[in-house]
Amino acid sequence: MSQETPMQPFAVDIDLASGAMADPDTVITRRASDMRGYYADADALERIIGEQHDPVHYEVFEKDIPEAPGHLRICVSKLYPGTVGRECFMTKGHYHTVSGTAEIYLCLQGRGFMLMKTKQGACLAERMVRNGMVYVPPHWAHRSVNTGEEPLVSFCVYPGEAGHNYGDIVEQGFPRRVYLQNGEEVIA
Ligand code: F6R
Ligand code: ZN
Repeated sequence: MSQETPMQPFAVDIDLASGAMADPDTVITRRASDMRGYYADADALERIIGEQHDPVHYEVFEKDIPEAPGHLRICVSKLYPGTVGRECFMTKGHYHTVSGTAEIYLCLQGRGFMLMKTKQGACLAERMVRNGMVYVPPHWAHRSVNTGEEPLVSFCVYPGEAGHNYGDIVEQGFPRRVYLQNGEEVIA
């Protein structure tokens, strides 16, 4: 049996004030047009796509870490501020493909909520605020929502094998949405 060479250790600089990751291996960019089907007001999203030339909605900065048991994947998630109609900008949201895997989100900048739902119909929102940590337990789909005026930036850690299952989310969404009404956060 051949002996595999162990992965080499590495270090990465992350500016804990802004969340900027030095030298990411991969940057996932989601634009407004990638969010078709996710917001309640589809016409408002089309206006953003047309008038603002399909702006970047969020970015995920990753290091190449194997998607395999035993590893811990890390990334920085940066969700820009704004609203579609009155609904606050949000990520698509996903379950983990290996549903029994958790995730830690450490918020480094901005404010908002982590919206979470289960297949049994539970839906909860936890506040995301700089220096706050949200624990997403196994089996909860999770979506971050930016209610502030600056990017909502989080450092995320999750098991290597977790994977991303966007499954029913574009069709069913989450049972609750987050709005700004007269400057107030409303979860309805
Ligand atoms: C990883 C994780 C985050 C999100 C990122 C973008 O498991 O939860 O890194 O992937 O915030 O959100 P999605 O993947 O829902 O587009
Ligand atoms: Zn996740």
